[in-house]
Amino acid sequence: MIIKENLKNPIFCIVAMNENRIIGDGKNLLWYLPGDLKRVKKLTMGSPLIMGRKTWDSIGRPLPGRANIVLTNSVSWSADGAIVVNTFEDAINKADEWINLNILNNQNLIQKKIFLFGGAEIYKVGLEYCDNIEMTKVKFDTDIGIKFPELNESEWKKTKLEHHLATINVPEHSYWHYRRK
Ligand SMILES: NC(=O)c1ccc[n+]([C@@H]2O[C@H](COP(=O)([O-])OP(=O)(O)OC[C@H]3O[C@@H](n4cnc5c(N)ncnc54)[C@H](OP(=O)(O)O)[C@@H]3O)[C@@H](O)[C@H]2O)c1
Repeated sequence: MIIKENLKNPIFCIVAMNENRIIGDGKNLLWYLPGDLKRVKKLTMGSPLIMGRKTWDSIGRPLPGRANIVLTNSVSWSADGAIVVNTFEDAINKADEWINLNILNNQNLIQKKIFLFGGAEIYKVGLEYCDNIEMTKVKFDTDIGIKFPELNESEWKKTKLEHHLATINVPEHSYWHYRRK
């Protein structure tokens, strides 16, 4: 059993969604936001990521400089560069171990935080343990796809960090930090 107060490292959620909380079509993202990809890389570098097997499949390779912890129900699934786990509790344990090991090895680029990297199934399991969300809000008109869980808006203090107007190839989007009150 996971007790939030006993977590060794805080869990941050990182997500991009549209006005209807759509995060993807089940296989991929629906938009291409090069600036957001850079921001995600910068925010997560040196941290363990916890992702679902479908999100792993959609990325198709391990993201360098980070632990790629993949949740699956399968006991036989494996992939090069993935740390495979079958429970969320095990995902957190592996993330803590990875942080400790890499700090011991004097890798001072390690961040003592864990990222909930998606998709929706993983957000559903892990969101209750997060006090922080790094959120990208994308103006993209669809109600069809995989949805981020509903948030109780009054529980979160929201800070808008940046706003980017649409260009020819990139939809309007903004970066937000949500902090649990
Ligand atoms: N916009 C964003 O920020 C963002 C971020 C990440 C992903 N995405 C998008 O989200 C979509 C994928 O999301 P999704 O919700 O369909 O899939 P997902 O959460 O990436 O993966 C679901 C899979 O994870 C495993 N899993 C989930 N909960 C588990 C548990 N409690 N214990 C063990 N295994 C568990 C299962 O794998 P098995 O089937 O192998 O058992 C399940 O099928 C894609 O379109 C992707 O592009 C968007």
